[in-house]
Amino acid sequence: MLDAPEFAAALVAAEAVVDRGPVAAATALRAAGVPPDLAATALTQAALRRAAVGKFGAAAASMFFTRTGLEQATRAPVSAARARRLALAGATRVADLGCGIGADSRAFALAGLSVLAVEADPETAIVAAANLRGLDASVVTGDATTADLTGVDAAFCDPARRTAGGRRVFSPAALSPPWDFAVGLFTRLRFAVLKLAPGLPHDLVPPGAEAQWVSVDGDLVEAALWSPSLAAVPRRATVFRAGVAHELTGDAAPAPVGGPRRYVFDPDGAVTRAGLVGAFAETVDGVVADPSIGFVYAEKPAGTPFARCLEVVDELPVAVKKMRAALRSYDIGRLEIRKRGSALDVEKLRHDLRLSGTGDGVLLLTRIADRPAALLCRRGE
Ligand SMILES: C[S@@+](CC[C@H](N)C(=O)[O-])C[C@H]1O[C@@H](n2cnc3c(N)ncnc32)[C@H](O)[C@@H]1O
Repeated sequence: MLDAPEFAAALVAAEAVVDRGPVAAATALRAAGVPPDLAATALTQAALRRAAVGKFGAAAASMFFTRTGLEQATRAPVSAARARRLALAGATRVADLGCGIGADSRAFALAGLSVLAVEADPETAIVAAANLRGLDASVVTGDATTADLTGVDAAFCDPARRTAGGRRVFSPAALSPPWDFAVGLFTRLRFAVLKLAPGLPHDLVPPGAEAQWVSVDGDLVEAALWSPSLAAVPRRATVFRAGVAHELTGDAAPAPVGGPRRYVFDPDGAVTRAGLVGAFAETVDGVVADPSIGFVYAEKPAGTPFARCLEVVDELPVAVKKMRAALRSYDIGRLEIRKRGSALDVEKLRHDLRLSGTGDGVLLLTRIADRPAALLCRRGE
């Protein structure tokens, strides 16, 4: 179907009208003589291409998607960086075991690797094949756990995750292909990389592997495990900002503990999840007020991709009435509330504060020296 000339024509027509909304677009395609089934499929594809721009940029315009496949697909800058690293390490032929619509496979092929893409779901495999057309890649429809890996020197596996009742707790038992198969690739092949949910607990990281957490423009998007043959450091945080990757690496050593200071850094989710708050604190000569809380305090401000820098204006009383009075004295009307290590209900607090001023600020709810604390801050660099 994706190859058929009549589908290509219907897709061009659908892309011209998809922004009019589903009913008007379907009417326009019918009026242009496109059969209803073809029109529906073409409109779905056109809408998915629009939705995919955030992940794939301009390349989305020539790719194909399923709704689930797009949700699961890796963002292009993330897959491209991974593929480059694998190619630089010396891998030549990679098996993408559970390739989905082929976003990672595409990146591997574009980085110069030869790709064997394996996908259990036949419809998704057809879409992957369409996305890999013209590249050094072949798609096999079948079970990755029994795939023939002769001639392959690297494996990539991004297992699908079943979510029980919308829960986002990391569960190895919920993965397909299964966790044991994925981790077993570390000993089966020269190189292996696994993409996993960012909730990956540190105690599941296999000995000698590198665990990486990745965020894109502030959103924590994935964890990856690199086989010991690829591992350069125990832990890595990769923070993409405006398409540029920034790397913080280390070994999860704790940050020094000290009193709060004039500036406070709120680290990116990739840094905190990677356990690299200590490594980050070192870069700004900072301390934490509590070993279990990731706000980092420092005397000097700094522009850094790894954290937001805020200037502490005042420490406010934690009691609601007194906090409200203090915020009034600062004329605060718009307040961003962040909490780490506080049990306060942010939405209830916001409601109870009844803000009415004209200025804005950031309120950090936290703990300092084992007591609850509320720091009023202004955005720094
Ligand atoms: C998270 S998606 C992969 C997304 C892909 N990395 C991308 O960026 O487009 C996982 C895929 O694995 C497939 N899958 C699950 N179990 C499989 C198995 N045992 N063999 C082959 N494919 C499998 C699912 O159908 C799904 O398409």
